[in-house]
Amino acid sequence: MIKKAVLPVAGLGTRFLPASKATPKEMLPIIDKPLLQYAVEEAIEIGVEEIIFITSNEKHSIEKHFQENIDMANRLIKSGKKDYLEKLNPKVFSDIKFHYINQNNQNGLGDAVLHAKEIVGDDSFAVLLPDDLFISNISCLSQLIDTYKKTNSSVIAVNKIDKENIHKYGVINPGIKEHDAILIEDIIEKPKADEAPSDIAVCGRYIFTSLIFDHLEATNFDKSGEIQLTDAIKSLINNQKVHARLYDGEKFDCGSKKGFVHATIALALRDNSISKDISKIIKEII
Ligand code: G1P
Repeated sequence: MIKKAVLPVAGLGTRFLPASKATPKEMLPIIDKPLLQYAVEEAIEIGVEEIIFITSNEKHSIEKHFQENIDMANRLIKSGKKDYLEKLNPKVFSDIKFHYINQNNQNGLGDAVLHAKEIVGDDSFAVLLPDDLFISNISCLSQLIDTYKKTNSSVIAVNKIDKENIHKYGVINPGIKEHDAILIEDIIEKPKADEAPSDIAVCGRYIFTSLIFDHLEATNFDKSGEIQLTDAIKSLINNQKVHARLYDGEKFDCGSKKGFVHATIALALRDNSISKDISKIIKEII
């Protein structure tokens, strides 16, 4: 149903310097898997066949990571470590077409998504912001698909955010309930706490109809010199219904050090091979 996913990964990763100097921040691991791979797997799980990375010249390791590594596979076989082969070259990746498009200027999230226009064409598509890591029985993207099937409209994942943090997000003005979702009346990017229309904020998963591209093209640079995806959504609402689906599950903002460490601890405590030790270590430290 949704066969293409766009993953913007061109950011500088300033908050993770010096770790992000030679390694893209999206490649930093949560336990033993790069952050980016969690989002890629979430997309593949819903049936996506083409992954479009909006990237920058510097980030070759992303391309390398999603390519088959035959040399290392042979070395693993020779040294009797066959069990690791699936981790090295996951079977699911072999059927996926990975595209890499350079976003040469840091012109914002809207500009990044617009770079995928040609490859996406007329199809509806998903956008995943890899900084946001979601842990739930039914993945965040699956929850969006569920709504999309009923509404056939663009659908955005949202969650409730406290007042102190609302200024970090796109925030919706909620309208009526339709199916299991909220019809969006309006949306504003990073409002001040007292100007936020609600406490319902956009988290990093979206499904768009291809009409979003027309609105992205018509969107002007904002005060900070960026083309905001949120501004294009605001304009799309005048043409087509856009729904918000309240995400059910845990979310970690791995774009911040706090969220990154939180995700690391949360996932370590779920990893059977280390959870007991980690929980003991945490108790000792406290
Ligand atoms: C972006 C979007 C924002 C959204 C957020 C979710 O902001 O512009 O609307 O709420 O992702 O993580 P960023 O975090 O890239 O500044």
